[in-house]
Amino acid sequence: MKRLVPTSGFAAIMTAVMLFAGTDPVLAAEEHAPQHVERLDWSFAGVGGQYDRAQLQRGFQVFQQVCTACHGLKYVRFGNLADSGGPQFPLDAVKALAASWPYQITDGPNNEGKMVERLPGLADPIVGPYKNDKEARSVQGGALPPDLSLIVKARGVESHAPWYTHWFWMLADIATAYQEGGADYIYALLTGYEDAPAGAELAEGMYYNAAFPGHQMVMSPPLSKDFFIEYQPDSGATGSLDQNAKDVTAFLAWAADPRLDTRKRLGWQVLLYLLITTLLLYAVKKRIWARVKH
Ligand code: HEC
Repeated sequence: MKRLVPTSGFAAIMTAVMLFAGTDPVLAAEEHAPQHVERLDWSFAGVGGQYDRAQLQRGFQVFQQVCTACHGLKYVRFGNLADSGGPQFPLDAVKALAASWPYQITDGPNNEGKMVERLPGLADPIVGPYKNDKEARSVQGGALPPDLSLIVKARGVESHAPWYTHWFWMLADIATAYQEGGADYIYALLTGYEDAPAGAELAEGMYYNAAFPGHQMVMSPPLSKDFFIEYQPDSGATGSLDQNAKDVTAFLAWAADPRLDTRKRLGWQVLLYLLITTLLLYAVKKRIWARVKH
């Protein structure tokens, strides 16, 4: 068969491209990085990764105690918090949580045609403080705190490596099954508050964040070195800004992709099934053709 690009030629082109690119794309990215996002080692990463249940539980605690002041999770229902593959809290605890949620559900119309406010139950979404986007914006100085149900899927990271190496990094990401860009970004955002560098102009009431596009945020630092959530002694980790940020990000990753554990497990089972079928079919073929001379 004729190859389009001879192997040695291909390797030479690759080397040339890498040399031309300044060899280290990470370094190159740092020099003019508009956004600073690093890749973390998530338990749910790669082809076999699964959520860490204790981490999801801690993450929910951070979400509940900090983020619900401004954000909701409208595509996650209270009952989902007891599902397997998620934080899997005991159902009784989730019922109690829903019944003591600080925000009410608008339901109705009732028999008199009026909308009513009631406490959430297991089948209700995890609502945030605002009834609609306009109310949210009016309270938050014009900025909209987005619903966080799908935020991990809705965000990603930009590559700042030179454009002519993009295809290489894209193939590398495919080969390593990298799909945690959203999680990496959210973690970077939560830990990315810093003093604005000299020369950066910050509008009034805005905070400088190294990971946010444009770097100016209305969201005040929800977590910091001086303000973080302490965990129970048996929760598997000690509270810190870094740990809180990782845990709440993992929880939001689950919220955006609650079937990840099942999906990955099923994927491996299917591959194993196909492998066994292939071996069986091969054995059958050998046997059927054994008597035919060739
Ligand atoms: C005091 C209110 C407030 C709290 C508390 C808060 N946020 Fe926000 N958040 C905002 C606002 C307002 C925005 C809109 C973007 C901006 O600030 O300009 C936002 C935006 C975001 C975004 C979207 C960023 C983007 O790329 O568009 C994420 C993710 C986020 N918040 C996560 C969190 C998490 C996680 C917590 C809890 C640890 C949290 N927020 C707590 C107000 C808040």
